[in-house]
Amino acid sequence: MVEFKFKNGFLKVLVINFIACLSVYSQDKTTLVTINKTEDAPVISKHIYGHFAEHLGRCIYDGFFVGDTSKIANTNGVRNDIVEALKKLQIPNLRWPGGCFADTYHWKDGIGPLDQRPTIVNTWWGGVTEDNSFGTHDFLNMCELLETEPYLSGNVGSGTVQELADWVQYTNFGGKSPMSDLRKKNGRNEPWKVKYWGIGNEAWGCGGNMTADYYANEYRKYATFISDWENTGGIVRIASGASSDDYNWTETLMKNIPRNMLGGLALHHYSVIDWKKKGDAVSFTEEQYFKTMTEALKMEELVTKHAAIMDKYDPNKKVDLVVDEWGGWYEVEKGTNPGFLYQQNTMRDAVLAGATLNIFNNHADRVRMANLAQCVNVLQAVILTKEAKMILTPTYHIMEMYKVHQDAKLLPIAFESPLYTFNNESLPAISVSASKDNNGLVHVSMVNVDSKKENKIEIDLNELTVKNITAKVLTSKTLQDHNSFDNPTKIQPTNYKGFEVKKGKLTVIIPPFSIVMIEGK
Ligand code: AHR
Repeated sequence: MVEFKFKNGFLKVLVINFIACLSVYSQDKTTLVTINKTEDAPVISKHIYGHFAEHLGRCIYDGFFVGDTSKIANTNGVRNDIVEALKKLQIPNLRWPGGCFADTYHWKDGIGPLDQRPTIVNTWWGGVTEDNSFGTHDFLNMCELLETEPYLSGNVGSGTVQELADWVQYTNFGGKSPMSDLRKKNGRNEPWKVKYWGIGNEAWGCGGNMTADYYANEYRKYATFISDWENTGGIVRIASGASSDDYNWTETLMKNIPRNMLGGLALHHYSVIDWKKKGDAVSFTEEQYFKTMTEALKMEELVTKHAAIMDKYDPNKKVDLVVDEWGGWYEVEKGTNPGFLYQQNTMRDAVLAGATLNIFNNHADRVRMANLAQCVNVLQAVILTKEAKMILTPTYHIMEMYKVHQDAKLLPIAFESPLYTFNNESLPAISVSASKDNNGLVHVSMVNVDSKKENKIEIDLNELTVKNITAKVLTSKTLQDHNSFDNPTKIQPTNYKGFEVKKGKLTVIIPPFSIVMIEGK
């Protein structure tokens, strides 16, 4: 696609053969990005960098958890290599046990002696038999190993208020009570003090096909009994939120749930080309890439509009917007169980992740938690395993590059993005966010969504003085490139020299479909 500007200012777009466009060419214009130092800008909550682990496919079993008799090095059955890799990401929270699975899960099935635990059928994901060998103790102890905060999703769809209230008492109460006695009998004296509690999942769908009004009432009832057992004010109750652009769901919940009962309101949005024809995770066309990115960049509109509704009922922004499921969703890898949602992860996913995290950072005043779906072997995973082997995906590397934004102060940015055009449709080609951490380090993360053109960015640092600038890039030859079990390090961040500082201006070249992180002090 080439753009011609005619003398009369009329912009004509000429579509030329896609094959002829494969070579890289540069944007003639430089994009000016202004970064402002604003005292009242919000802090980017580290919880935006959260993850999600469901009893789905090979996420828990044959993923995180191999059992303590496995030859793969493990701690109480949890793979050591996964723990080490996730600790490097500083994952701030981990959501469990679902997803759709959460509304079928009865936590008491997963405690006590292994040989006495009942089996259930995982009806949502492959119809496999779940033996409940990975339960509450296993998950919460694993969170301690990972040094991350657990986020438990309670069963509203097929559970009871009593069951969920008991779970909170079991995990959080230090005093004497039936549930804390049971916990102690099962080998754990001190409570884990779980802070984040989801009251159901996708209540509009797999969580019970409820209407927004009906769920708002259910939520109020559950929230009444899901109490902070030690009155420390430590519990955050999160309501099952809207699917993508269901703004009525957000409006109804915000209107009908009292503020003191609501810590967070969820939102789920997956970047799917077409639910009936999701396309291959690796062999995709430019058209499919463009569609995936269209869905990914829609997140900007979604959080803006959901946040505006929340502002109406909660002008002081007390309630968090929690995007607790996001990511790319493609057809499962050929030859794998269709219910296991196993897919590879390419540079397309890296661009998707970088651009989405920039959106969350820039909306840090309301988006205070998010969970990539999912952590290991499912959907847009950061880790894939095959027997004893483990690979870190391009999305892992984005999470690693971006961890510098966790709990750093947002630096608001302003710029007008050039366009990435395909088949007469356009998307913003550039995505940027910036922050300053407690040590005074400034980080600017930049994504070039354009699949063919490199983009030049000139950063006006305004009153910020930034020295000793270094950069890293995540890039590759083709969008379809990925790490495989035979070539696990094909894609990884490298030091980047494609920038220059002249007369106080920082100019950065971003290659097509690449992500650059600048650091300076
Ligand atoms: O992440 C996979 C599934 O997607 C989750 O179980 C569900 O909440 C969503 O529909």
